[in-house]
Amino acid sequence: MKIGIDKIGFYAPHLYLDMTKLAHSRNVDPDKFTIGIGQEKMAVPPITQDAVTLAANAASEILDEADKEAIDFVIFGTETGVDSSKSAAVYVHELLGLNPYARAIEVKQACYGATAGIQMAIGHIAMNPDSKVLVLGSDISRYGIATPGEATQGAGAVALLISADPQVMALEDQSVYFTSDIMDFWRPVYSDKAFADGKLSNEQYIAFFSEIWNRYKEKSGLGLNDFEGIAFHLPYTKMGKKALKPVIDEADNDVQERLKENYQISTEYNRVVGNIYTGSLYLSLLSLLELKSDLKAGSRIGMFSYGSGAVGEFFTGILQDGFREHLRAAQHRNMFASRKEVTVPEYEAIFEETLPTDGSTVKLDTNNDPADICLAGISDDKRQYVNKVK
Ligand code: COA
Repeated sequence: MKIGIDKIGFYAPHLYLDMTKLAHSRNVDPDKFTIGIGQEKMAVPPITQDAVTLAANAASEILDEADKEAIDFVIFGTETGVDSSKSAAVYVHELLGLNPYARAIEVKQACYGATAGIQMAIGHIAMNPDSKVLVLGSDISRYGIATPGEATQGAGAVALLISADPQVMALEDQSVYFTSDIMDFWRPVYSDKAFADGKLSNEQYIAFFSEIWNRYKEKSGLGLNDFEGIAFHLPYTKMGKKALKPVIDEADNDVQERLKENYQISTEYNRVVGNIYTGSLYLSLLSLLELKSDLKAGSRIGMFSYGSGAVGEFFTGILQDGFREHLRAAQHRNMFASRKEVTVPEYEAIFEETLPTDGSTVKLDTNNDPADICLAGISDDKRQYVNKVK
């Protein structure tokens, strides 16, 4: 039985910051951000968006009534969840009106959470072929104003519907995963901003990819020549390129060209959204699938997932006949085109506007947020969400 990605949804907030303008304001050469790091725009989340609403907006664009009935498992990968106890999946389950006979949980391991969710979903579908699983990767990346990580912030979510006989991509059985305790990136429970040893995280990402790739080759008997493209977890768009560099010579010259070209295409969406942590790998996959017009069914795509701390995994999928008809390239083009630019002072003001943590009530104005699903406030320490179209 084939099991894999049946649909992919994506949502980014309606505001963005131009990285060249950020560079000028930080007295940095803009080429450092646009070439050295490889980011052009950064999605800026208004206070009315959080990990829950971003995920719910991403999922609502793909689910029809039959999907809502068939989904009996919601797995929410996030490292910027809104509650230490209740899972973000339960909120999304309610906001989207899903079948009540469902499991709903949150999974955490930095940017790896959604990948763990997909692997759990595969096992669930193997046991329950008529079920569908909604896997969400949703985050707001916050390092702080004028920090080294600032240029790698972002916000957004990817929603993946996992099912038998998938319309987009069948996931293959071979996969290699690896864990090692490394303090390259963490966020203690008392902080709303991540702590990162940026250089160490770069080194470990590259080392994990080499380790896992070598093991994958031994296990599968496949090599780079067997891949049309590889999508990477992209904290910023230069990162995957750094990991691919030490191994790319293994491929024939024409394959090297193809992998480099497809890598470039797989970074386009991420370049204008920024780091969305758990969703970043899947945003990169979506970028490749939606923007490469001559991608053929039957092609094998590799996916490298890395979650600091750290867990990494390499796994693969085969594009299915007619996969393009089940993507939403035009909607995503419109989503990007209708975003509104904010100035650096506006971004800084939005960044500093945080929700109360002292139990006080706040009512937020959702009229300025065009998203269907928004955070409307907090009352009695409970988040109040609204789905404007439900
Ligand atoms: N023109 C072109 N490139 C330039 C440049 C210029 N004027 N100035 C600098 N660069 C390049 C550097 O050479 C470097 O490229 P390289 O890594 O390929 O050598 C890149 O821009 C970044 O410069 P660097 O000095 O290393 O940046 P930094 O120390 O300010 O921080 C990160 C970069 C990624 C470490 C930082 O943004 C960070 O900590 N991010 C969060 C953690 C993260 O994303 N980790 C990734 C793994 S999960």
